[in-house]
Amino acid sequence: MNQKRKTGLKFLKNFRDTGAFKETSRKVELEICQRIPTDRDVIVVEFGMGHGNITREILSTISPESKLYAFEVVEEFCDHVKEIIKDERLVIINDGAENLKKHISEPIDSVVSSIPFSFFSEEKGKTIIQGAHDLLNDQSTYSQVLLTKFNFKKFKAVFEECEIVNLQGFPTEYVYHCKKKENKSN
Ligand SMILES: C[S@@+](CC[C@H](N)C(=O)[O-])C[C@H]1O[C@@H](n2cnc3c(N)ncnc32)[C@H](O)[C@@H]1O
Repeated sequence: MNQKRKTGLKFLKNFRDTGAFKETSRKVELEICQRIPTDRDVIVVEFGMGHGNITREILSTISPESKLYAFEVVEEFCDHVKEIIKDERLVIINDGAENLKKHISEPIDSVVSSIPFSFFSEEKGKTIIQGAHDLLNDQSTYSQVLLTKFNFKKFKAVFEECEIVNLQGFPTEYVYHCKKKENKSN
């Protein structure tokens, strides 16, 4: 059985956490990394590392001195990624995105997320979005993939500038790019 199918089965087995039966598509891996700055060293945070497909793309996007903190609630997925990705820039955190500030206090330059917002309570969703906004630098972006547009309003309530990219396929995937702008006239 190929790796993608194995990952799909693991996602299905952990459906309550993953909210997915397969990895996000290659189109998502590329689109969701579009707003990560490449002209300097950066601190990137990933929410929902899974089996590390987007993690790999982030690592191939950022500079050699950059850092990636990847949050994942399923311990088995953390162990799997530790095995398959050996990269000193990657720090794996076996905890939820809602606990971001327990682990990170420094300003961050980008958030890349594939966590299943539709499975979260209103309060948990707000904590995650607000926590990320608080730590992001001005003009930095939180990029989120979801299978619906339903949660877009939650991001618009916190971020100053938001857009949706619609990626055709089965299922259709939506990438929300949400930018922090301390001065709205920028
Ligand atoms: C839809 S899967 C995406 C996995 C992979 N990044 C991809 O693109 O296919 C969502 C992942 O988020 C993880 N997850 C769920 N709730 C989380 C939370 N609160 N914080 C961090 N990760 C979480 C799940 O265990 C799962 O691995």
